[in-house]
Amino acid sequence: MTTPHEIGLAQTPGLETGPGKLADPCIMVVFGATGDLTRRKLIPALYHLEKENLLPENFAFVGVAIDQLSRDEFRNRISDCLNSPDEGEASEVVDEQSLSSLIDRTEYIVGDFGDPGTYQALKGRLSDLDAQFGTAGNRLFYFAVAPGFFSVVAKQLGAAGLLTEENGWRRVVVEKPFGHDYDSSQALNKDLLSVLQEHQIYRIDHYLGKETVQNLMVFRFANGIFEPIWNRRYVDHVQITVAESVGVEQRGSYYESAGALRDMVPSHIFQLIAFTAMEPPVSFDADAVRNEQIKIMNAIAPMTPEEVLQRTVRGQYGAGMDGDNRLPAYRSEPHVAGDSRTETFVAIKFYIDNWRWADIPFYVRTGKRLPRRVTEIRIQFKRAPFVLFRQTPVDTLQPNQLVIRVQPDEGISLSFGAKIPGATVRLGTVNMDFRYKDYFGVKPSTGYERLLHDCMSGDATLFRRSDALDAAWSAVMPILDVWAALPPRSFPNYAAGTWGPKEADELMSRDGRHWLV
Ligand code: BG6
Repeated sequence: MTTPHEIGLAQTPGLETGPGKLADPCIMVVFGATGDLTRRKLIPALYHLEKENLLPENFAFVGVAIDQLSRDEFRNRISDCLNSPDEGEASEVVDEQSLSSLIDRTEYIVGDFGDPGTYQALKGRLSDLDAQFGTAGNRLFYFAVAPGFFSVVAKQLGAAGLLTEENGWRRVVVEKPFGHDYDSSQALNKDLLSVLQEHQIYRIDHYLGKETVQNLMVFRFANGIFEPIWNRRYVDHVQITVAESVGVEQRGSYYESAGALRDMVPSHIFQLIAFTAMEPPVSFDADAVRNEQIKIMNAIAPMTPEEVLQRTVRGQYGAGMDGDNRLPAYRSEPHVAGDSRTETFVAIKFYIDNWRWADIPFYVRTGKRLPRRVTEIRIQFKRAPFVLFRQTPVDTLQPNQLVIRVQPDEGISLSFGAKIPGATVRLGTVNMDFRYKDYFGVKPSTGYERLLHDCMSGDATLFRRSDALDAAWSAVMPILDVWAALPPRSFPNYAAGTWGPKEADELMSRDGRHWLV
């Protein structure tokens, strides 16, 4: 078997770096340091980078949040984060040396994001850390805050003189959702550009850093056998599921203003659609790839209000059970209104109005408190003609399916019909299965490792351009408009721990199909 080294992969997929691409010395400042994003994604990613020797030697990490914690209390949280992996992910054997190396370079500042005093305190601390760790004046500011604070933090940083690139670079990573709708996305862009230049802004979508997502392009375009059948003539439909078993955790106030559609669809789900549906780019050059992706987003057929009613489903979880554990309803989660109308689940049928995909539905669904965590893309091919089997006990042929498992259990499998051994002709469905773990022996990264490293080395290839955001918001605006005009009347409409409201199944069954996860 070919080993990863023979085919030129770095030890940890997702962390490969191009020639000469070293992370610069820098201080990374995270606003929202006590939030879920920092705990679930950023700290594990920093630790992985440190473990792989990919963090710059001259590095410091500063958390900023309103919570009254001492530096040591914040440092203790770092090791706690590594002991609570996402569902389906194995917990890590922590390398103590890497962990303490990260912890020793960690600081914490208590502060209100709207208070100029916070930024003055930060400014002083950053100068001290520069002297202590030799970080050369470079600063990476990460906005892991509720979207309502993006402009606030940017403007305060600007007012405190913390964004001027006179000694060292200043970069800002802006999380999603980028805006609340088309207009607010434009307004946010304008606010950022009032204190920053475009090259300083890194709009992140961590799905772009996921190895399995990047591999979609390699899979499609480095293998001659798939591309000829990757179109409306051979594909029956595509299903994309991004399911999470967790609820909204501590993010109730953010989620109340976002909801599942804004939280997941214009970003992660559109990236998955774009990688699945795009034309081959002329090169791997950032703009070549992005141009093709944007064409797909622009080709997502805008829905009429009538189509929104027929092709979209929204849901909100009520109480449910996970074995013997009672799971709370969304409306009982912290910081959530008792009569909240925010959706925690969406299912949508999209069409991509171009020559390759005309009339082929792309069904997507995403939600919180579904039975398990799974992200996958299923390409279902058209059935073979039945004619040969008429005189046999076989009553139906199963269509072939190609499943791209984005996470967990990352891999790809292709199902096909095979003869069950015996005297009569009977068919069973079997799988050809590739698992990253089996071939490459290591787990692909979460996505954040690669992107943080890119940002520290000034590579914006995998970050989003503002025209991609415009295209994404334009595609979902008709849905947001109809939903705003017709508030949901049946919430909660699915029990926590189930696969969403029955309407999501009906969306499929009306077309003679069903969800296959
Ligand atoms: C984030 C969303 O962008 O992605 C969260 O805001 C969601 O609500 C998360 O939980 C999912 O990321 P992953 O990598 O676990 O699929």
